[in-house]
Amino acid sequence: MTNTKISNIVVAIDGSDPSRKAADYAVSLAKEKDAKVSAVSVVKIHQSDAFRGSAQTLHKFVNKQVSIADEWLGSIRKDADKSNVKFESRVIKTTASIPEEIIKYAKDKKSDLIVVGTRGRTGFKKMLLGSVASAVVTHAGCTVMVVR
Ligand SMILES: Nc1ncnc2c1ncn2[C@@H]1O[C@H](COP(=O)(O)OP(=O)(O)OP(=O)(O)O)[C@@H](O)[C@H]1O
Ligand SMILES: [Mg+2]
Repeated sequence: MTNTKISNIVVAIDGSDPSRKAADYAVSLAKEKDAKVSAVSVVKIHQSDAFRGSAQTLHKFVNKQVSIADEWLGSIRKDADKSNVKFESRVIKTTASIPEEIIKYAKDKKSDLIVVGTRGRTGFKKMLLGSVASAVVTHAGCTVMVVR
């Protein structure tokens, strides 16, 4: 029989309203299942940024993104704490791909479920499913839930 036990839930956060909804879903599901939530936010370092400004400018820009991501994760932590849900979080900086980092993190956490939003911060409204969500659904090693 298929094992439907959910112990480790990873939720992917980009600060958008859909990802906030994904976090709410992840926390309430974790409460129901007595699971742990690991929230991850990936800060993409665009190679081209390095050419536009000095290395120091890039460094500052990336650090600013990281501290903004920390705030998003901090607010989800508060909700998890209120619900007595075990919680951890990580901000990952990468020059590689965002979905790859989310999937790698989920593997590290032995996650049995990844929760994402349908859309994020960067997409066009007319797109039904963002490229990060789509790549995670396609390539993840575990079940993926796309929250609407
Ligand atoms: N940098 C990120 N770090 C963590 N999770 C992310 C990141 N970007 C997107 N996600 C996750 O993927 C979901 C869908 O966002 P996605 O980026 O795929 O759509 P979009 O921004 O609307 O379009 P696109 O990025 O393809 O232009 C988000 O709700 C969030 O759960
Ligand atoms: Mg996006």
